[in-house]
Amino acid sequence: MDPRDTLRPEVLEFTPYSPGLSIDEIRERHGLANVIKLASNENPLGASPLVRRVLARRSESVFRYPQSGNPRLVRAIADFHGVDPARIVPGNGSDEIIDLMLRVKARPGVDNVVAFQPCFSIYRLQAKLCGVEMRQAPLRQDFSFPFEELLALCDENTALVFVTNPDNPSGHAVKAAELAYLAKALPPRALLVVDEAYVEFAEPEEEHSVLGRLDSLPNVAVLRTFSKLHGLAGLRLGFGAMPVWLADYLLRVRLPFSVNLLAEAAGMAALEDNHFRLASLEAVRKGRAYLHAELERLGCRPSPSMANFILFTPPTDAQGVFQALLARGIIIRPLASYGMPACLRVSIGSDPENRAFVQALEEVLGNHG
Ligand SMILES: Cc1ncc(COP(=O)(O)O)c(C=O)c1O
Repeated sequence: MDPRDTLRPEVLEFTPYSPGLSIDEIRERHGLANVIKLASNENPLGASPLVRRVLARRSESVFRYPQSGNPRLVRAIADFHGVDPARIVPGNGSDEIIDLMLRVKARPGVDNVVAFQPCFSIYRLQAKLCGVEMRQAPLRQDFSFPFEELLALCDENTALVFVTNPDNPSGHAVKAAELAYLAKALPPRALLVVDEAYVEFAEPEEEHSVLGRLDSLPNVAVLRTFSKLHGLAGLRLGFGAMPVWLADYLLRVRLPFSVNLLAEAAGMAALEDNHFRLASLEAVRKGRAYLHAELERLGCRPSPSMANFILFTPPTDAQGVFQALLARGIIIRPLASYGMPACLRVSIGSDPENRAFVQALEEVLGNHG
């Protein structure tokens, strides 16, 4: 007998997450000294100087376990966002909260979860691993959200409905009022999970985020990450804000120390560093307008974006453009794994990174033409 036959079928059939390529990989493959990565929507300014100072200091304590439940971090997040701390579940990236939500809420072989197509792939991957059916409603041609199609997929066994706002990979965003309307129309078991990984970049954030409205939305949870605006992708920190009864159960079943000591310290420092946060926002919003205009000038079709990336359709074969950019040391994101082989996604970088991308793209498209 093949010992692999003893594994769960969900594991045998699993296709792993496909991450953005790393700088080291491309440096080696193409023998390049300088590589620019605009593939994973990281912070163009790096990490906050305050965070780096705090990390250096806290590194003395890494032989200690963090405090179980990360109460100081939870308090800091709750204060920053004006949310009841009993609603907050910190996680090893918001990925961990997505996984926990599925494992806590969706019954394998019985329940289903619903999202748009395409969507952030972790929803589908973790549902698969949990043995939970995933139903997806295609986005409209312009990437706007057909909520009626989403609702048509829901039934009495719908455990979770994921909506990413602003969306990844399109950058499309809806106002919070529309999400409140959707929540009210869901069947009784269903929880609406609004993934706000990029909401700080939306203009204005307050009109797009449901985080401040949870008291009037009993069947809504919000996901936030420190990987984007706060520049902590490598430390893995995110949180969910959800009904208190649900937070209680997630906290009971999560692994006790999944948010490590340095991530906890860095998260608190990041929330304190207003200067860095505002500078990051400004850099992204300016860079986004610049890249959108330049992509149009170069004959690409960029989608309007409220996030820290832009989806665009190049005038020639997207895979060819992606590879030609790689050879010039620029990593962006091909979207074939999202089922969009004609499209590419570029993260907003620093000014020099954005200019280098535009120059390389101009060369590539010139060569193609
Ligand atoms: C929509 C969305 N949700 C969640 C995440 C995961 O974030 P984290 O790094 O906090 O796990 C990402 C990361 O790219 C994302 O795009």
